[in-house]
Amino acid sequence: MVPGVRLLILGKQGAGKGTQCVRVARHYVVPHISTGDMFRAAGRMGTEFGLRAREFMDAGELVPDEVVIGVVRERINQDDTANRGFILDGFPRTTEQAEALWDMLAPRGIDLAIDLELPTEQALRRLASRRVCQVCQTNYSTENRPKHDWTCDNCGGEVVQRDDDREEAIRRRLEIYEASTEPLIAWYLERDKLVTIDAMGNPDEVFARLVRAVDRRRGVHG
Ligand code: AP5
Ligand code: MG
Repeated sequence: MVPGVRLLILGKQGAGKGTQCVRVARHYVVPHISTGDMFRAAGRMGTEFGLRAREFMDAGELVPDEVVIGVVRERINQDDTANRGFILDGFPRTTEQAEALWDMLAPRGIDLAIDLELPTEQALRRLASRRVCQVCQTNYSTENRPKHDWTCDNCGGEVVQRDDDREEAIRRRLEIYEASTEPLIAWYLERDKLVTIDAMGNPDEVFARLVRAVDRRRGVHG
């Protein structure tokens, strides 16, 4: 079996990509590479790049392809990903990004693209109740709160609502998902790299489905 796993996760906003990637990264001991988290961190640092990315994000728009591709290329060429693999969260989101990634990873490529499938009304419910640690990005919700007020259980950071979890930005993000990202499901299916996972149910149930699918692809039986 080839060591390490090379995975990416697709799915609409609120499908649970970030929630599952944290678990996948721990399970397979691979870095979790989230373009959204990288841009939010740059925004908090107040760099010129971060502030520009934040303008796109807060409006629910995509950061331009050439910027995102450059950021991922730099990250994916680091030693940890080359040796152990990765799980990509939120990249690619356009056909141009998918093609760039395909070229970057040749000849081995990715093992699997995982599509987390969730009805839109469920995703909207999850987004409305989501709260996130500003520092380590751990997810909470109005039903699953930190133990002490809105202070992160992991790192003590402040837990807040994301700036793009406002009604108008959510609507725009979902429109863009349908127009630009959903076509990637067929793109990976045509290349025999796609698995679709039902994202209903609690996070542990979804995670069990996901690991079964990845291990099946890697030829691990259990
Ligand atoms: P990004 O940060 O990637 O956000 P997103 O795509 O909008 O996806 P979300 O993070 O909203 O959803 P998620 O699927 O991760 O759900 P989560 O696990 O949090 O991107 C943000 C922005 O950055 C973009 O809009 C764009 O501007 C820019 N950007 C990023 N990548 C880019 C790229 N490649 N190209 C161009 N621009 C890019 O779960 C949601 C909630 O549900 C949480 O509260 C969670 O606790 C809860 N939950 C999760 N799973 C379950 C479950 N099974 N049951 C119950 N509740 C659950
Ligand atoms: Mg996310």
